[in-house]
Amino acid sequence: MAALIEISGLSKAFGGLRAVDGFSASIGRGEVVGLVGPNGSGKTTALNLITGNLPADDGIIRFNGRRIEAMPAHRITRAGIARTFQLVRVMPSMTIAENVAVGAIFGAAPCRPAEAMARAVPLLARVGLGARAHQPAASLTYIDQKRLELARALAGRPSLLLLDEWLAGLNPTELDEGIALIRTIARDGITIIMVEHVMDAIRALCGHCIVMNAGRKIAEGTPAEALADPAVVKAYLGDDDA
Ligand SMILES: Nc1ncnc2c1ncn2[C@@H]1O[C@H](COP(=O)(O)OP(=O)(O)OP(=O)(O)O)[C@@H](O)[C@H]1O
Ligand SMILES: [Mg+2]
Repeated sequence: MAALIEISGLSKAFGGLRAVDGFSASIGRGEVVGLVGPNGSGKTTALNLITGNLPADDGIIRFNGRRIEAMPAHRITRAGIARTFQLVRVMPSMTIAENVAVGAIFGAAPCRPAEAMARAVPLLARVGLGARAHQPAASLTYIDQKRLELARALAGRPSLLLLDEWLAGLNPTELDEGIALIRTIARDGITIIMVEHVMDAIRALCGHCIVMNAGRKIAEGTPAEALADPAVVKAYLGDDDA
């Protein structure tokens, strides 16, 4: 079966720093893929290139068979890619429900504001914010803002969901709940790329894992295979210890 997203030779430099350097990957429909690597290895930049939040210097991205690497971010969202941010980006003066409704209005299944607000209700319940729909988003803790971002992403009815360290900072109970929640999203048929440092979550959720270092893909396979790869061990431990 054709891949949902195919990335080829994707590159982005910041001055002399090659943040993403000839990155290629192919991800099938319904997969949950872990994207891991040491700090600064280019994971967030790769997501920003996929979503059009940053323009690529080079490379091709095919999503659902269409070239998207030169599309503006709002069109990529419309095409069915939604995300959460490593550093959350909620609209603080809007209510929690309104933030989610924005995701519905500008997503892959656009609708009028009234329907968008209706769509927000079950999604807020799903991420554990059901009782707080009409409070300002600014009233939320950082972790709850991440929950809000997930509801906002789902409101757009994406076919591909990108999570950038969505599980970071959760306590053990919240982590179990978060893993279970991501599993339900995958069961709904949404393909997921999750950038994550919580390796237990990668092992629990991902059939496939891609490891980056210095902007490049250095290993891929099942989480067990990829994380045991000598190049990966070396990247995490540093040259001196390997
Ligand atoms: N807007 C930017 N301007 C300049 N340099 C940047 C910018 N964004 C990222 N970088 C640099 O690009 C490299 C890759 O950063 P990126 O945020 O993609 O890494 P990451 O793998 O997501 O790391 P982390 O696990 O710490 O989130 C880093 O060296 C970072 O400092
Ligand atoms: Mg990052």
